[in-house]
Amino acid sequence: MSFCFNFDVPVQSTSPDDVDGNELQHGKKDNTAKYMEDDAKPAEPVKEAKEHLPLSDPQLLLRDAVAETVTIGTLPLLHFLNETVFEKTVLEREDEEEILSRTVEQKSDLISGVYEGGLKVWECTYDLLELLEKDGETFGGKAVLDLGCGAGLLGILALHRGARQIHFQDYNSTVIEQLTVPNVILNCQEEEDEVDSEDDKEGRGTGKVQGEDCCKKNGKQEVKDGSPPPKKRAADLSQHHSLAKCRFFSGDWSTFLALVKKEDPQPKYDIIFTSETIYNTAYYSALHETLHRLLAPDGLVYLATKSHYFGVGGGLHLFEMFVEQRGVFSLDHLWDGEEGLQRHVVVLRFRTAKK
Ligand SMILES: C[S@@+](CC[C@H](N)C(=O)[O-])C[C@H]1O[C@@H](n2cnc3c(N)ncnc32)[C@H](O)[C@@H]1O
Repeated sequence: MSFCFNFDVPVQSTSPDDVDGNELQHGKKDNTAKYMEDDAKPAEPVKEAKEHLPLSDPQLLLRDAVAETVTIGTLPLLHFLNETVFEKTVLEREDEEEILSRTVEQKSDLISGVYEGGLKVWECTYDLLELLEKDGETFGGKAVLDLGCGAGLLGILALHRGARQIHFQDYNSTVIEQLTVPNVILNCQEEEDEVDSEDDKEGRGTGKVQGEDCCKKNGKQEVKDGSPPPKKRAADLSQHHSLAKCRFFSGDWSTFLALVKKEDPQPKYDIIFTSETIYNTAYYSALHETLHRLLAPDGLVYLATKSHYFGVGGGLHLFEMFVEQRGVFSLDHLWDGEEGLQRHVVVLRFRTAKK
């Protein structure tokens, strides 16, 4: 069984008919903001933001992990935990939010205000990775936010490519703890292994235990890590310089913004990635405010999205109108896919920014 790819939203009042793109396309623009802010409020209380601090034994998270690897052109290999394992091990996992059991029970990718879909890698993430591969964004020395990160592949790419600081945010703490953090560790571990094997080749072995039981499967590399790895390596990983560049947050965007705004200095990001996060018009205001307050003056927001999210009602056209109405950002299309359900990658920058 796998999570079904739908947008069934049982606890939320928004239906596709409530927010109808056609109606908006036919000249009812002025009502857009009202639709978005008043009529589409999520039923669940706002989830408080919190920071997830580094673990004393990060390797524990990778016990029994089954990982997949995505290979896109010249990009570094990106590793992530296989989502089906969550369903199969649902009863053994600690999950204070109870999202694992609820998603399996309701057979849904999304339960608005409860679980926002972060336990799987959504296809627009791959579109954005492909675009970054082709267009070659530079990350060196930059501060990056992966907003609504889920598996965190976009942030992990920035980490591999030399970003100075990478912050990962997801609505659900379970996603951050059981998927994002393990994925980052998995990728840091690979870097560590590469350094180790270089050391070994040159006869400068560090004495650390080498990689896991790796096997090729259907063109994708699968990494199995069945036995508890040695303590020494776990301790080394927690000190790992790449991991030290990362911070992890869960919670609703509005409370996330309030949390980081208290910091001195307040973070400003050169690049904000956000993939498949504009499906619900009820969240546009909080999302826009977060981008507005946290983007550096010359920074870029890369947004990957579908044209329309059936069953929830949001999509690129509505979001573009929302952005236009706010008058803060300009929005340019970088890639428009024509096949099937249309997908897009767009970039937002402050209207005042240099192009
Ligand atoms: C469909 S998932 C996409 C996950 C990932 N970006 C990807 O492309 O695979 C949507 C993500 O948006 C985030 N999200 C949605 N609504 C949110 C809200 N109101 N506050 C905070 N995060 C939200 C969640 O973290 C969730 O993981």
